[in-house]
Amino acid sequence: MQPLSQIRREYSQGHLTEASLLTDPYAQFDKWMADAVEAGLPDPTAMTVATVNSQGQPSQRIVLLKDVMDGCFVFYTNLGSRKARDLLTNSKISLHFPWHILERQVLVRGSASLLPRQDVQHYFSSRPLSSQLAAWTSKQSQSIESRDALLSRFEDTKTKFSGKEIPAPEFWGGFKIIPQEIEFWQGGEHRLHDRFLFSRENSSHWSIQRLMP
Ligand SMILES: Cc1cc2nc3c(=O)[nH]c(=O)nc-3n(C[C@H](O)[C@H](O)[C@H](O)COP(=O)(O)O)c2cc1C
Repeated sequence: MQPLSQIRREYSQGHLTEASLLTDPYAQFDKWMADAVEAGLPDPTAMTVATVNSQGQPSQRIVLLKDVMDGCFVFYTNLGSRKARDLLTNSKISLHFPWHILERQVLVRGSASLLPRQDVQHYFSSRPLSSQLAAWTSKQSQSIESRDALLSRFEDTKTKFSGKEIPAPEFWGGFKIIPQEIEFWQGGEHRLHDRFLFSRENSSHWSIQRLMP
């Protein structure tokens, strides 16, 4: 294998310019998400979610973005998980979309709050049956002695709900993130990348700055 220090490439797919950047960051995000879906990259909605616990320790993990509604980015998870525990004590959050094939990334920084239960139930009902059962089965982020023990819990859950409609567990929910900042990054030749930072001025107005790479 090559030395890691020699693994590199040029970024040359295009430029993000003042002229092509949309003035509404949500419209710009939609456009780039559509490009990511169109490009056929795996898990285009996957984002790295960074949270910080009460001791100031950051943690990250990949989560799927499920909606952008009313100006909020939405994901779903177990409310006893590490990320949920972090967010319930420190609502500050950062999202990162790594769209390598397109030589792009998007960063979102803001605050998270719990989604209303009716939204959670509505989304939960739309999930495949096996995902609904898995949500009931897993005490996410807690330890378990073996995979067999996990499968046994899954079988018990199947039996419990056999032939019944499955409600969203109380310990499972969603978070909505109100962004304060959204950054769009497009790789450029000679590492002269294009970066535009949208910063929220008020509920409807954003300032836009070009950042140095
Ligand atoms: C592609 C991908 C998508 C994922 N989507 C979710 C998701 O939507 N919600 C979720 O809770 N975990 C999801 N996970 C699992 C998380 O990365 C993580 O392992 C889990 O949420 C526990 O994280 P925590 O202990 O930091 O709370 C996904 C993992 C991958 C690799």
